[in-house]
Amino acid sequence: MYICSNCGYKSLKWIGRCPNCQEWETFVKEDESVKNYEKVEIKKLKNLEYIREERLISNISEFDRVLGGGILKGSLILIGGDPGVGKSTLALQIGSKFKSLYISAEESLNQIILRAKRIGIESENLYITHSQNLDSIINSLNSSFDLIIIDSIQTIYSEEVPSSIGSISQIRTCAYKLLKLAKEKNVAILIIAHITKEGEISGPKLLEHIVDVVLYLETNETNLRILRSYKNRFGPTNEIGIFEMTEMGLKEVNKPEDYFISEINYAKPSIARSIILEGLRPLIVEVQSLIIKTFYPTPIRNSVGYDIRRLNMLLAIMEKYLNIKLRNYDVHINIVGGIRVLDQALDLAVALSIISGLKNFPLNPKLVYIGEIGLTGDVHKVFMMDLRENEAQRLGFEVYKNKKTLIEIYKDIFENS
Ligand code: TYD
Ligand code: MG
Repeated sequence: MYICSNCGYKSLKWIGRCPNCQEWETFVKEDESVKNYEKVEIKKLKNLEYIREERLISNISEFDRVLGGGILKGSLILIGGDPGVGKSTLALQIGSKFKSLYISAEESLNQIILRAKRIGIESENLYITHSQNLDSIINSLNSSFDLIIIDSIQTIYSEEVPSSIGSISQIRTCAYKLLKLAKEKNVAILIIAHITKEGEISGPKLLEHIVDVVLYLETNETNLRILRSYKNRFGPTNEIGIFEMTEMGLKEVNKPEDYFISEINYAKPSIARSIILEGLRPLIVEVQSLIIKTFYPTPIRNSVGYDIRRLNMLLAIMEKYLNIKLRNYDVHINIVGGIRVLDQALDLAVALSIISGLKNFPLNPKLVYIGEIGLTGDVHKVFMMDLRENEAQRLGFEVYKNKKTLIEIYKDIFENS
């Protein structure tokens, strides 16, 4: 049987021109032998048992939490972040908790030794090598490690790729080699990459598709470091771990309230607290605002830690429903402690902080204000209220309740007292 490679017309003998599509010399012999490919197993999902995968627990609980309960064996994890944020430090600390190999392609062994001494690492099971040649490294792996750390993906290379170190094709090839290694040896691999959330360097952005977990270590020019998960094939995303950079490396922050609010019971105009959720984690945060008469034709709207577009929206809602004229005032908003809040449950606290600042009238310091404000001036319920309430209670706060619109709340707080 012959078949036209252009239109698929079939003929018993070879012909020069296809009678169907009129193309010349398109007929090829059809291979009639059916190939015997290996069969794949097809099963009913319902009948399958879940096999619990083994996880490596570092006991650095802020780290384990972000991964959804430790590192899954054989998984590929990317830690991104700006240069100097503390990626190498964190990786070294995590590496010291397992039988690990730390591959330093960026810094000399001496620099790593110094860092390990500085943060007091005395692990018997931490191995180290200084090399940039990934093929040689893989070839030298003789004993089995739980964890391999690559510091960093931009500074290793494979001889199989002719392009220069740090180029996209180098990064891609090395990442695939590491993926293969992780799955074949069932070893977890932590890849460090210099990258900002915006992904200015296009190279590592492509890594996100290859790896199982994407974490970013973020900072706001304070000592606070937030490890955030953006992708996790084996756990929740948007989970955060909170650390402080100290003289002795990264320290877990177990009491975030110490960082995120000024003193409890501190009543001052413009202070409003709320309980936000980061992943499944409730956190108390404090909004402060500064409202001053403007010197400019267009007043300043400035926000640190809260979306500026939402701030503008809230100001418009307040103007319309509360008849508060803020157009002659500059408005500055700051979330204490340098955390970036995306949770819209913070709206109410932002609005009340601004009114409190404008009226020079302090809010009750025992209360937290939780609610998303709609364009209609209604205050919407937010999800997982029980988690938020528990956290408020744990810290000795109460959740402000009962009133359903911004105007009712305004009257209740600022006119009735
Ligand atoms: P590093 O882990 O090298 O950052 P990255 O690998 O992300 O580039 O750490 C960077 C900074 O952290 C460095 O400027 C010094 C500071 N640092 C501390 O404050 N305390 C410490 O214990 C260590 C090891 C570093
Ligand atoms: Mg580093």
